[in-house]
Amino acid sequence: MPVVDNRPSVLSEDFAADPYRYFAQLRDQDPVHHEPLIDGYFLSRHEDVKRVLTDHEAFTTQTLQVRAEPVMRGPVLAQMTGAEHTAKRRIVVRAFTGRALQDQIRVIRANAAELMAPFLPQGRMDLVNDFGKPFALNVTLDVLGLDRRDWRQVAAWHSGVIEFITGLTLTPERRRDCVECAEQLEAYLRPVIEQRRRDPGDDLISKLCTTAIDGVTMTDRDVTALIINVLAASAEPADKTLALLFKHLIDHPDQLAQVRQDPDLLAAAIAETLRYTPPVQLIPRQAAQDAVFAGTTVPAGATVFCMIGAANRDPGVFTAPDAFDIHRPDLGTARSFTAAAEHLSFGTGLHQCVGTAFARAEIETVAAMLLPLLEEVRYSPGFRYQESGLYTRGPLSLSLDFTPVR
Ligand code: HEM
Repeated sequence: MPVVDNRPSVLSEDFAADPYRYFAQLRDQDPVHHEPLIDGYFLSRHEDVKRVLTDHEAFTTQTLQVRAEPVMRGPVLAQMTGAEHTAKRRIVVRAFTGRALQDQIRVIRANAAELMAPFLPQGRMDLVNDFGKPFALNVTLDVLGLDRRDWRQVAAWHSGVIEFITGLTLTPERRRDCVECAEQLEAYLRPVIEQRRRDPGDDLISKLCTTAIDGVTMTDRDVTALIINVLAASAEPADKTLALLFKHLIDHPDQLAQVRQDPDLLAAAIAETLRYTPPVQLIPRQAAQDAVFAGTTVPAGATVFCMIGAANRDPGVFTAPDAFDIHRPDLGTARSFTAAAEHLSFGTGLHQCVGTAFARAEIETVAAMLLPLLEEVRYSPGFRYQESGLYTRGPLSLSLDFTPVR
């Protein structure tokens, strides 16, 4: 009798429909899951994922040369190491923290108010497509200093870039189309970079063009790659997190009522949303040498995918991990947006997300604006909830009804 392999494939339609159903089985029975089609190893236990993300010698970001560089038009932060990484990362971090962050909160408020206004009197809004996507992209365009009137065009090129990075089984034709999107984005950015070098303003592109840290300045190629890096990294997870936050609160009316009553609980609700349903589900690395996990050897040179959604629900780290609970004692809200976070939704180690403080401010600000306006918020009649994405994951739409705002 042939041995039947009934382990779920991470690339199957069943898995894509609801990966959360499979995480416990993967962690318990198949913690180093190999996918022959793409020759990748999927790690699902918290301790293994943490080890990969923090052991930078043994697990490198080399894989991004193939997975990201063609559409970033140059090396991205995550590929860099040593002094170059520290210096360039610091330029980006500075642009998203401290006083710069205070200015950005005004940008966030203005964008949110403008975008939600037409939907409030209607009493209906698709939080993903009417609001979240344009909102997150517009905020990023404002921070970068790009023209918001171009957002639809930039959004189309941006989708090509994201598809290239996150697609695990793209055809050569799709890869070519995606690279074309990136080339057009690069051509769009070229005159902007020239102009900012001549006449810098307060925006992030100007800062990337003019700041030198420890004597490190950026070439046009570096600046282009970093702009695309920030565009790709910032908008998508933020709009997904916002929609997921509202979904979880609507599904847990008692917790929604508590957050309405005490907006200070919003930070915990966002942290728990990130733990429970991380928008970035996979982080790739390359094994520099043979590595053993749970008795299985991952060979040198292999691509390893850290499964953030599975690691965040590891019962060894979080009690009752499959429950959404903004009061969970092991959440550690204050740490949740720092390198000390127990959840791994922002990654961890050297390449941890540079946008954690910004993402928190962005989601907290906009949720605090929306919650008091969306009275009696509920799913629209006939709405069917669907998520998509293996690499990044979030709702396809979230049609909400609420008391119309006069
Ligand atoms: C809820 C929102 C967000 C989530 C869940 C998220 C998640 C992540 C994750 C998982 C990584 C680590 C990738 C790795 O280790 O290879 C990362 C890196 C990064 N993120 Fe975010 N991100 C968010 C928002 C943002 C925002 C708003 C920005 C804008 C500044 C941003 C910019 C970046 C950059 C530039 C990196 C690369 C850092 C480096 O390699 O040194 N992210 N993010």
